[in-house]
Amino acid sequence: KGDHGILTAMVGMDELDRSNLPRHVAIIMDGNGRWAKRRGLKRVLGHHKGADAVHEIVTATRDLGIPWLTLYAFSEENWQRPQQEIQALMGLLGRFLKKERQEMLDNGIRLSAIGRIDKLPETTRRELLETMSATSVNHDMVLTLALSYGGRQEIVDAARALALQVQSGSLRPEDFTEEVFSRFLYIPAMPDPDLLIRTSGEYRISNFLLWQIAYSELYITPILWPDFDRREYHRAIREYQQRERRFGNTGAAG
Ligand code: IPE
Ligand code: IPE
Ligand code: MG
Repeated sequence: KGDHGILTAMVGMDELDRSNLPRHVAIIMDGNGRWAKRRGLKRVLGHHKGADAVHEIVTATRDLGIPWLTLYAFSEENWQRPQQEIQALMGLLGRFLKKERQEMLDNGIRLSAIGRIDKLPETTRRELLETMSATSVNHDMVLTLALSYGGRQEIVDAARALALQVQSGSLRPEDFTEEVFSRFLYIPAMPDPDLLIRTSGEYRISNFLLWQIAYSELYITPILWPDFDRREYHRAIREYQQRERRFGNTGAAG
């Protein structure tokens, strides 16, 4: 039937090469405020819509079988925002973590976090830790939230931990390698992101995963985060699949 033909064509358009999926996708979820402003709404409503997008993208990642997803939810620098917006964001985050807990358990998703978690308000931190501990035995996918996170901060923290080991005599400076250094990052087992997505069109990194993105493929879309859906996500992955990753070597074309 005609309908069926159209459907097949749409599915075909959306088809991804399952043998060449990124192992780790990291996303700078930007544009909630602009999304709201364009509709004459308060910024916080953009964050609410943004939470729905988080749900959709987490589900889509799980469906694809991508084992690592890292979302930049709140930067160290975001503490400079008006108190009212921070409070709304933190409240939303706490409710989100509570609401999504069962779904994560049902889908084998382990929640983890990177950043200065101790700076979060008590109730938000409690929901975070509770969801992390409830999901800690899951191993199908790791969802990492970057919260009160700064890439430079992470590097400084790693350098400090290394310095302490040198001071105590358990490590010699000549044994520092990239591999040793990366063991001191917030999540040592985390592979580097293959694909880094930024929504809402800004061409910058904003202090996200500085060490880890050395060779990540960058995908920047003008789509605002609340509008970033499964379809847009698949579009990003499809583009990723067309990239030739060279890692400094000569390409396949020679
Ligand atoms: C991203 O949306 C969410 C956070 C940074 C918490 P923004 O709030 O930065 O939205 P814009 O960039 O002002 O549109
Ligand atoms: C980056 O977005 C941080 C998050 C998405 C959490 P920002 O909106 O804070 O970044 P800038 O200020 O535009 O660089
Ligand atoms: Mg922004």
